[in-house]
Amino acid sequence: MKTKISASILSADFGHLADELSRAESAGCDMIHFDVMDGHFVPNISYGVPVLKSIRRYSRLPFDVHLMISDPNSYIEPFAKAGADGITFHLEASANPVGIIDKIHSLGLRAGVSVKPKTDVSLLYPLVGIMDMALIMTVEPGFGGQGFIPETLAKIKALRDYADSTGIALDIEVDGGISDKTAHSVREAGANVLVSGSYLFRAEDMAKNCKLLKD
Ligand code: DX5
Ligand code: ZN
Repeated sequence: MKTKISASILSADFGHLADELSRAESAGCDMIHFDVMDGHFVPNISYGVPVLKSIRRYSRLPFDVHLMISDPNSYIEPFAKAGADGITFHLEASANPVGIIDKIHSLGLRAGVSVKPKTDVSLLYPLVGIMDMALIMTVEPGFGGQGFIPETLAKIKALRDYADSTGIALDIEVDGGISDKTAHSVREAGANVLVSGSYLFRAEDMAKNCKLLKD
């Protein structure tokens, strides 16, 4: 599967978000990763619907919205209306993941389901064939710039093996601590969508770093 890079604007310069979106697009990134935090599901607050709505027009790339919030179900429609192309919510925050996936699909968007580093990956198996993408967190969600947790590699591999055994070409995304030092191992384990924030936005040459994540 071809590797895609989703640039997390959590590490962008918020004073120049439109320019940062263009920078990511020119650098060869495939998607914009939009991290939503509510200060409850994770101990940090980032940005939400109005910010997505106002920046959406400044990029042609698909917006990959990652909801790190306690009540994802109530916010699917507002994020869809604001311009999300795909919405990923956390399994830990949903009693009825299939219902939320159906809601995302009914709005014409791609649906992703995420697990935190300590959540058992086999909990995602029943959703293979229903969700479009699984997001394996490779750091504890909440902050950019953290170190990659190596124990998550086995989870990526287990999910890829399971999806392969069913014959489904599932997108497996990884998020947290992705750089030239970790990209190779996550891809080898089976990830094909790599989120990267600080490694891209703090780079002197973003295009070079983006390419290094794909090579
Ligand atoms: C963390 C967010 C990530 C974050 C990744 O909770 O979900 O998307 O921006 O940042 P880096 O790539 O710096 O680890
Ligand atoms: Zn994220």
